[in-house]
Amino acid sequence: MASFLTYSLFTLYFILFPSIFSISQGVFYEELAQGIALKHEEKTTHLHFYFHDIVGGKNSTVVRIAGPPNSSIGNFGNTMMMDDPLTEGPQITSKMIGKAQGLYAMAAQNDFSLLMVVNYVFTEGIYNGSSISILGRNHIFDDIREMPIVGGSGAFRLAHGYALAHTVQIDMETGDAIVEYNVYVTHY
Ligand SMILES: *[C@@H]1O[C@H](CO)[C@@H](O)[C@H](O)[C@H]1NC(C)=O
Ligand SMILES: *[C@@H]1O[C@H](CO)[C@@H](O)[C@H](O)[C@H]1NC(C)=O
Ligand SMILES: *[C@@H]1O[C@H](CO)[C@@H](O)[C@H](O)[C@H]1NC(C)=O
Repeated sequence: MASFLTYSLFTLYFILFPSIFSISQGVFYEELAQGIALKHEEKTTHLHFYFHDIVGGKNSTVVRIAGPPNSSIGNFGNTMMMDDPLTEGPQITSKMIGKAQGLYAMAAQNDFSLLMVVNYVFTEGIYNGSSISILGRNHIFDDIREMPIVGGSGAFRLAHGYALAHTVQIDMETGDAIVEYNVYVTHY
């Protein structure tokens, strides 16, 4: 029994293992998380800005790209592509700090709930050129909507976190809205 075990271990160690190592000539994956953690501490940044969704008029920032025929904007399935300005203050004339580029779609049949798939790209200060990506549910008539940050680029590489959206003004005729965002983004 003992000699069988010894033989088995011998076989495993000297025959199987070297053959496993000898065939692995490339490096498929490497553990980098610890290296990053040693160099940088993860930190959380709070961003505060206003989002302007201009649906009507000649300065519209959205375009309907899909949806059922002859439907109004609030109908289930309607999908809009946006390039919405983000500003420091609630007025559209206040300093622009970025853009919200992506799409929102009416994702509920009997409710006003949006699917948001949006990149928020910043154009000011140390975050110029960096972006965060949001993928979430936006139940637009709730006072505060929470949406997950699923990633980011530049200063926000490896980002995760959440965005809190609060509508400060909405024009029920045109659908134009000003939304305040408080974003908590954790990144390196
Ligand atoms: C469109 O934008 C221009 C320039 O910012 C502005 O002067 C004009 O009043 C805007 N028009 C509408 C309908 O909002
Ligand atoms: C959409 O509207 C047009 C013009 O009003 C009409 O001819 C067409 O039949 C409508 N289509 C549907 C699917 O209701
Ligand atoms: C942001 O970066 C772009 C591209 O590098 C540059 O053209 C622009 O001047 C920068 N803006 C600010 C406010 O630094």
